[in-house]
Amino acid sequence: MKVLLLNGSPHKEGCTYTALEEIAQQLKQNDIDSEIYWMGLDMIRGCIACGACKKNPGKCVFDDDICNEVISKIEEADGVVIGSPVYYAGVRGEVCTLLDRVFYAASGNFAGKPAAGIVSCRRGGATASYDRFNKYFGISRMPIVSSQYWNGVHGNTPDEVKQDIEGLQIMRTLADEMAWILKSIENNPRPEREEVTFTNFIR
Ligand SMILES: Cc1cc2nc3c(=O)[nH]c(=O)nc-3n(C[C@H](O)[C@H](O)[C@H](O)COP(=O)(O)O)c2cc1C
Repeated sequence: MKVLLLNGSPHKEGCTYTALEEIAQQLKQNDIDSEIYWMGLDMIRGCIACGACKKNPGKCVFDDDICNEVISKIEEADGVVIGSPVYYAGVRGEVCTLLDRVFYAASGNFAGKPAAGIVSCRRGGATASYDRFNKYFGISRMPIVSSQYWNGVHGNTPDEVKQDIEGLQIMRTLADEMAWILKSIENNPRPEREEVTFTNFIR
């Protein structure tokens, strides 16, 4: 079993990475593999609502950035954790830009995969950012994995994050819960579900 740990920070080995690394180590303790995938610094295109992914589900028509690679990585993984630094009390813009396209194009392929968002901030905005992550998972039939507190670490540098003893424990607890859920569902295939009804109004 393998968990994808997506690092949405512009810093390859910054605070978000430090939190994800704590998760990776704890997953290892639970005999679960993981991969920390850094989204890098290249430009990410936004969703232009062209609808091409509705005709060709599972792929974004724009193939000139990491969007389709991230879709494949999530499809191949058994579980996913997505991390972001907090910018102006929200998830970093590029992370949302990427996830809007990833989930709009392919979330139908992610159903049943346990997921969690984690955030790193210097001082404030962690819970609002955490909430945003859960919006992606909650509309995609992905079991949201929780911890002992809302998934965040505090610090402006990796060293400061390492001093956030409670924050790191929150990451380890999250990894333990993820491992337990993955092992629990391993031999329990997801049942068929109703076909989704999609209406643009409420009556
Ligand atoms: C543009 C920008 C906006 C930020 N906004 C916030 C904020 O609203 N709240 C906060 O606590 N920290 C804020 N920070 C600090 C980062 O969230 C914090 O340093 C984070 O741990 C960095 O993670 P990283 O090393 O993985 O990039 C901001 C940083 C930048 C560059």
